[in-house]
Order: sequence, then structure tokens, then C-alpha cells
Amino acid sequence: MYFCEMEKLVFATHNPHKLKELRQIFPSLEILGLHDCNITEEIIEDGHTLEANAEIKADYVFQKTGFSCFADDTGLEVDALHGAPGVLSARYAGDGHDFNANMDKLLREMKDKENRSARFKTVICLILNGRKSFFEGVVEGEILHQPRGDEGFGYDPIFRPLNHSLSFAEMTSDEKNSISHRGRAVQKLLGFLLKQLDI
Ligand code: IMP
Repeated sequence: MYFCEMEKLVFATHNPHKLKELRQIFPSLEILGLHDCNITEEIIEDGHTLEANAEIKADYVFQKTGFSCFADDTGLEVDALHGAPGVLSARYAGDGHDFNANMDKLLREMKDKENRSARFKTVICLILNGRKSFFEGVVEGEILHQPRGDEGFGYDPIFRPLNHSLSFAEMTSDEKNSISHRGRAVQKLLGFLLKQLDI
């Protein structure tokens, strides 16, 4: 598939928050979500690393649709918990993908911990014209003692990025995108696409 045909890029996600974030970052491309491609099933992410899970999702979409596509996988790595929840961030409190339950569990695990340092890491796997590339973005920060803010999703209310006074959930989506793990990984993806696709 050549670029002039490729204004469409499938983002392998069911998460409307992530789709919204990505559409803001890529105004010049039409980003489709899984629902737009009639993929309603959950893609099983049974890899042991963020890279493996991103690749599993991108492979799945490429095999089903044949479209250029990308998938991301994100983990929150907490130093005092030896890197947990990490690759299990979505299912930390069980299989329900319940953001509040995950956050509550993390706050419980961190109750007596002095070292609050943590980082979000995103890995993106892009399949462009059948070729794979990987991009990584990281944001360092700390786990707050209590949730703050109503924006965003997931662990946003309890994560404060380094050198910022607001939690991710107290920032606008533009503020968050400009410094976030996914924002940084996506900027690398964007730079790559601009070069490859000459846009
Ligand atoms: P995913 O791989 O992007 O689905 O992310 C796995 C889990 O990490 C999600 O279920 C969220 O709990 C959490 N997560 C991912 N991205 C973010 C973010 O930007 N803010 C807060 N939590 C996130």
C-alpha cells in the first residue's frame, strides 16, 4: 500500500480515550479504531513484554484487515513494587479491566512505601506496507497517595509526572499528550511516518 492510498491507519484499540488522544496527535491522517473495522472481539495479549503484546495486536489487525496499522501496549512500572504492575497493568486487580479497582489495589500496595517513583512506558508496533517497526516512549514520575483529578483514564489520577505539580488526571488532554509516554512514542511514530510517507 503506497502513501497516497494510505490516509487511513488502523489503531488496534477499543479504548475511546486512546483513539481521541491519537486523533488529536495525527490530525492529517484518518485513524480508524477496531470498531471501525468490525473487530469487536478482545485481542488476547498473552505476551510477557510490552513489545510482544504490541506485536500480537498489530499482527492480528494486519492479518484480519490487510491495512497498515499500529498497536500500543503500556505498562506502569513502580520501583517499590519491583516493576509491577508493568505488563499486567490492565489486569492488576483481576480480569475485569476495572480502572478504579486497579488504582485501589496499587494504592493499597503502596500504602507504606516511601519510594514512590514510577514510570509509564509505551511500546508501539507499526506495520506499514507489511514491514514492522517499534517505538518507545517513557515518562518518569511518582505515585500519589490519593487520586487527584477527573480527566484521562486508568492510573492517571494517581500519577504525577516528574517536574509537574498536576497529576495526569488534572491536566488537559493536550498537556498530557505533550509529555506522556504514549505522546512521546507517538511523536517517534509520527516522525517515522512523515519520513516514510512524505507528508
Ligand atoms: P494499554 O496497553 O494501553 O491498554 O494499557 C494497559 C493499562 O495501563 C490500561 O488498562 C491502563 O490501566 C493503564 N494505562 C495505559 N495508558 C495509560 C495512561 O495514559 N494513563 C493511565 N493509565 C494508563
